[in-house]
Amino acid sequence: MNSISFDNRVVIVTGAGGGLGRGYALDIARRGGSVVVNDLGGSVEGPGASREMADLVVAEIRAAGGRAVASYDNVATVDGARRIASCAIDNFGHIDALINNAGNLRSAWFEDASAQDLDAHVQVHLNGAFNVTQAVWPHMKARNYGRVVFTSSSAGMLGNDGQSAYGAAKGGVTGLMNVLAQEGEPCGILCNGLLPHATSRMGSKHAEMMGLEPTRDAAATPAWLIGARDPSFVTGIAVYLASDACTTTHSLYRALAGRISRVFIGVSRGWQGSREHPATAEDVAAHIAQIRDTTHGSYIPDSLQDDYQIAIAPVTA
Ligand code: NAI
Repeated sequence: MNSISFDNRVVIVTGAGGGLGRGYALDIARRGGSVVVNDLGGSVEGPGASREMADLVVAEIRAAGGRAVASYDNVATVDGARRIASCAIDNFGHIDALINNAGNLRSAWFEDASAQDLDAHVQVHLNGAFNVTQAVWPHMKARNYGRVVFTSSSAGMLGNDGQSAYGAAKGGVTGLMNVLAQEGEPCGILCNGLLPHATSRMGSKHAEMMGLEPTRDAAATPAWLIGARDPSFVTGIAVYLASDACTTTHSLYRALAGRISRVFIGVSRGWQGSREHPATAEDVAAHIAQIRDTTHGSYIPDSLQDDYQIAIAPVTA
């Protein structure tokens, strides 16, 4: 296997001042890429700002002989996103890849979650990914090449206690990826999503925010698992998806404790009701097991149109 190079490639990594994003930025720079290290430098919850986080990662990259510039802009604003894209263009001339990684966390049981919590998550995760991707999109389209990585989460795609607002925003990120994968493919832009897991600053904060006792969990955790939750275990898949070696689009990948897998939305073969008369609630109740059954066939649609064509195909026995 040839090694994956980022020579002459320019990559923006948002939220790269720590945790997962820092690891992505360091690895891409080590592989010859020029990196925009974006980080607002605030708290896990979101508020605050500081230049230190992005500056430290840039200094680390430069000390190792790599190329990087810092960006302190907020992904949640349209102007901030435009400045992040301009930072790449002004310093390096073009944009090859974007890793939408910036994120905040305000875990709470649903009855305690506020409209402000929802807004705070949507602003950073969803609006952030939308804004920055929109800012880089014309640059990628003009060169008929791009790689965009969207950071979703298992909380949004699979579910997790205490993450209603966070999960809602992350589910939205997957929706954005699904559509942009379709719009991007004819222009050479491949879009994929990532469901990471790591004991980063944010990863360690959930239990604390929920008032859970992390010590009980920690005592039962084997040493290998503590090691395999290091952010570096997610770097490989993120860097692959941002590279020209990546050939997939419209896909979600999960990195968890050393296992890298594909997560997908599948459609069961289902129950074929009448095409002349709508199914009643009673019909559904009578066929719910068949509707849910996946042992007799299922498929992964590439798009809404794909699913539509399969659903309207002539009925076979
Ligand atoms: P982290 O807290 O170490 O990194 C997130 C970074 O984003 C921080 O450095 C923060 O300053 C920056 N940031 C926050 N708001 C920003 C904004 N408006 N503009 C620019 N930068 C901003 O956390 P971690 O774990 O490295 O998270 C990275 C991504 O992975 C996040 O999107 C997170 O939601 C996601 N994720 C992490 C999981 C984990 O287990 N650590 C699980 C699932 C998803």
